[in-house]
Amino acid sequence: MNDQTMSAPLLHPSAPSPASDGGTLKMTARNVNVFYGAKQAIRDVSIDVTQENVTAFIGPSGCGKSTFLRTLNRMNDTVSSARVEGRITLDGEDIYAPDMDVVQLRARVGMVFQKPNPFPKSIYENVAYGPRIHGLASARADMDQIVEKSLRRAGLWDEVKDRLNDSGTALSGGQQQRLCIARAIAVDPEVILMDEPCSALDPIATAKIEELIHELRGRYAIVIVTHNMQQAARVSQRTAFFHLGTLVEYGDTSEIFTNPRETRTKDYITGRYG
Ligand SMILES: Nc1ncnc2c1ncn2[C@@H]1O[C@H](COP(=O)(O)OP(=O)(O)OP(=O)(O)O)[C@@H](O)[C@H]1O
Ligand SMILES: [Mg+2]
Repeated sequence: MNDQTMSAPLLHPSAPSPASDGGTLKMTARNVNVFYGAKQAIRDVSIDVTQENVTAFIGPSGCGKSTFLRTLNRMNDTVSSARVEGRITLDGEDIYAPDMDVVQLRARVGMVFQKPNPFPKSIYENVAYGPRIHGLASARADMDQIVEKSLRRAGLWDEVKDRLNDSGTALSGGQQQRLCIARAIAVDPEVILMDEPCSALDPIATAKIEELIHELRGRYAIVIVTHNMQQAARVSQRTAFFHLGTLVEYGDTSEIFTNPRETRTKDYITGRYG
């Protein structure tokens, strides 16, 4: 359990309940369908995301991984043709309820994208932006502290502490991605969604992000989409295999990779298609 869940019992009174994999249930999706206009992209997907485990979404291109990931913090709301059916909860609360504050939700369920997308602002301002709009720091010293803590957690502090006023866009790709992770961390999220966060990075920058995911595990519930089977095996404890909009198989990563139940999963992880 992280600081946020410990310190926010009044906001989220529902007691954590155990998930089917034995972890602490953080998010649930039940019978989720997603349509873009008349085209259905996700079919009847149900899944539990737990606090302690990193969950990997794998599957061939176009199978709906990003679409489903985006339902978890309502990023699909920004796509006018998208329609989501089913029930998705965060700490037992329906995130599609009419009274859900979507801005607040996206702070609680942060997102890191495939291509690092720092704002064209200083390194400091990239991290301070979210806490400022959410009113998390009143004094400059408090903000300095949030910025330092977030950059430290993202494994970037030592590399940037002497140039916080330089532009975030001047950093290397790997540093930019860690800056984006620091930016997500700065608003004290509970869940971090990552959509192929390493696909634009070289192997060394990728290794740093993977190491970071290990360090962040447990403090935040983490869901990562990846095309890289080795990466899924290295960073996750639970793996969900998607195919043609359906969730074919979901289980312990070690089981999925060594002893998949479904032929389609086996064919994919052994490189027979994808
Ligand atoms: N904004 C959109 N409008 C219409 N259709 C879309 C939109 N975004 C995705 N789709 C369609 O939904 C389906 C799932 O796409 P999605 O991007 O979720 O797949 P993915 O598994 O993330 O693929 P990739 O591995 O290539 O990133 C695809 O058929 C895609 O063309
Ligand atoms: Mg995608």
